[in-house]
Amino acid sequence: MPTDHTLGMEVVAMRVLVTGGAGFIGSRLVARLIAMGHLVTVLDDFSSVRRPLPPDARIIEGDVRDEAAVRLSLHRQEAVFQLAAVVGVPNAMRRQWDSLTTNVLGTMRLLEALPSGVPLILGSSSAIYGKTPQVPVREGDDVLLGNTHIASWTYSYAKLTEELLARASAAERGSEVKIVRLFNVVGPGQTGRYGMVLPRLVGQALAGEPLTVYGDGSQTRTFVDVRDAVAGILTVWDKGAPGDAYNVGGVGEVRILDLARRVIALTGSRSPIHLVPMAAVFGPAFEETPRRAPSIEKVRALGYQPLISLDETIQDIAAWLAQAPSPEP
Ligand SMILES: NC(=O)c1ccc[n+]([C@@H]2O[C@H](COP(=O)([O-])OP(=O)(O)OC[C@H]3O[C@@H](n4cnc5c(N)ncnc54)[C@H](O)[C@@H]3O)[C@@H](O)[C@H]2O)c1
Repeated sequence: MPTDHTLGMEVVAMRVLVTGGAGFIGSRLVARLIAMGHLVTVLDDFSSVRRPLPPDARIIEGDVRDEAAVRLSLHRQEAVFQLAAVVGVPNAMRRQWDSLTTNVLGTMRLLEALPSGVPLILGSSSAIYGKTPQVPVREGDDVLLGNTHIASWTYSYAKLTEELLARASAAERGSEVKIVRLFNVVGPGQTGRYGMVLPRLVGQALAGEPLTVYGDGSQTRTFVDVRDAVAGILTVWDKGAPGDAYNVGGVGEVRILDLARRVIALTGSRSPIHLVPMAAVFGPAFEETPRRAPSIEKVRALGYQPLISLDETIQDIAAWLAQAPSPEP
């Protein structure tokens, strides 16, 4: 039986489905699962950026909302990771229908067809906490979402509903679901196209363009490297309690203005920082979350430990962008 020494877990080779497996996080998870000896199937509609997948991965090009594609993908699987989504708040604001239905209908399709005893690990988000003033936020804390006429909450409501479906399926149908609430995952391979802050700032710094910071830059986030996030997802799969939710994130709350300064220092850029009003970027139907930082004590108790510093991640993103064929892959 092979052992994954980095996670300290014994690995029994399994058939595993990763929806959204061609995505930023999904493609890293797929590579890691294959390296662990698992047989991996990817269900992805390739609506996002195309990323290289290991040749050993079995690819099903299809929509997670499509019942037939889901049934085909689930055939003989022993574990399922649901990561298919329309991500990024600006992206989800432009594609509200797809954002809602991919998360909600996609997860519903998977839960409906999930064979008994097959665990489903749901990729949820810190977005479900909304604008809660609670810092750091714990899994049991109240959530605080804005009004539905504000389009920037669409993604949060979609992820929240996905969680509710998973919990209802666990309670009433005995589904074995484990929920991973990811907090601001960053790293090489992430596109800045969908509004993710770090690849955009690093790209601007490398191009010698002004770094655009939205609002006054006092809003905070806590970033986690994608390699640590994947380790967190695998830890929850292995050791998480069925029906339970876990925050998976990094440590150290960062103001976005300080993040921009850090990017400039680490890339040796001479770019200035420009503050841009939120409304100029997102329009009036946008509400910002002032602070976001996870309590990761619960997942730490399972053995998770984020290892990669934000500075290391910034340098890795810079190295990746510098060698990428186009400035915005
Ligand atoms: N990146 C983050 O910081 C972050 C934070 C919190 C939660 N998450 C969650 O993690 C998951 C993965 O995010 P990511 O950053 O890798 O995003 P991503 O856009 O890189 O990956 C999502 C993948 O889903 C695919 N997809 C979209 N709609 C689909 C559909 N209808 N059917 C099949 N495939 C579809 C896309 O083609 C893409 O490959 C998502 O559920 C997201 O909500 C991400």
